[in-house]
Amino acid sequence: MTASASSMSLETAIKERRSVRGFLDQPVPQAVLESVFSLAQHAPSNCNIQPWKVWIASGALKNHLREQLVEKVVSGVPFNADYEYPGKFDGDYRRRQVECAVELYSNMGIARDDKEGRMRASLRNFELFDAPHVCFIGMDKRFGASVALDVGMYVQNLILAMTAHGVASCAQGALRYYPDLVRETFEIGDDINILLGISFGYEDTDVPANKTRVGRDEFRQSVVFSS
Ligand SMILES: Cc1cc2nc3c(=O)[nH]c(=O)nc-3n(C[C@H](O)[C@H](O)[C@H](O)COP(=O)(O)O)c2cc1C
Repeated sequence: MTASASSMSLETAIKERRSVRGFLDQPVPQAVLESVFSLAQHAPSNCNIQPWKVWIASGALKNHLREQLVEKVVSGVPFNADYEYPGKFDGDYRRRQVECAVELYSNMGIARDDKEGRMRASLRNFELFDAPHVCFIGMDKRFGASVALDVGMYVQNLILAMTAHGVASCAQGALRYYPDLVRETFEIGDDINILLGISFGYEDTDVPANKTRVGRDEFRQSVVFSS
């Protein structure tokens, strides 16, 4: 995608944004990075506290971090996330989770019973999907779900701003699994918890995973009008 921020409507950005899991080896110019992170900063937050904290790695630092993440996973270092994730879902949540996995794995040519293929696919998270940049997003560890909402708003602003600048992204809960490595890499204090990471850059359209298109239920499944 080549559209500039000014030529893309909000509706188009919302509809065009999707998770991209394969990137070109081409860094995003610093001016574009500054534009998108400066746009994201306009997110609303409780009492305008702006709780999001963001660390971006590129170049040699990103490569080193990627190597360390892969090394940890491959050698079986246990995950140690600051925040738990349910992982197991049921009912409609489970249906949507399965639909999403089927769409992704079929595009990647991975059969349902191909455990090794799924492990390889999972490892791609820690290879940052070959992205030239990764950012980690955290907040003060004293904050709970109500403040995490603010950070979620920031993340959506950020990935939409990226879309509007032709920059693809994948939000990754998987990148919260080794928070101590993230804190060590960026010299972040223990007062900060890591919520997620986002790999980003320019989409490699030849990567099969990038054919993935995940649908949504009709909006009335989530929304109730009353009067
Ligand atoms: C907070 C969050 C965490 C996510 N974590 C991962 C992840 O670890 N790995 C991954 O491949 N995708 C991850 N995703 C992407 C979702 O799978 C994706 O948003 C969903 O399937 C809908 O697809 P779309 O983003 O292409 O519209 C995450 C998305 C969000 C919002």
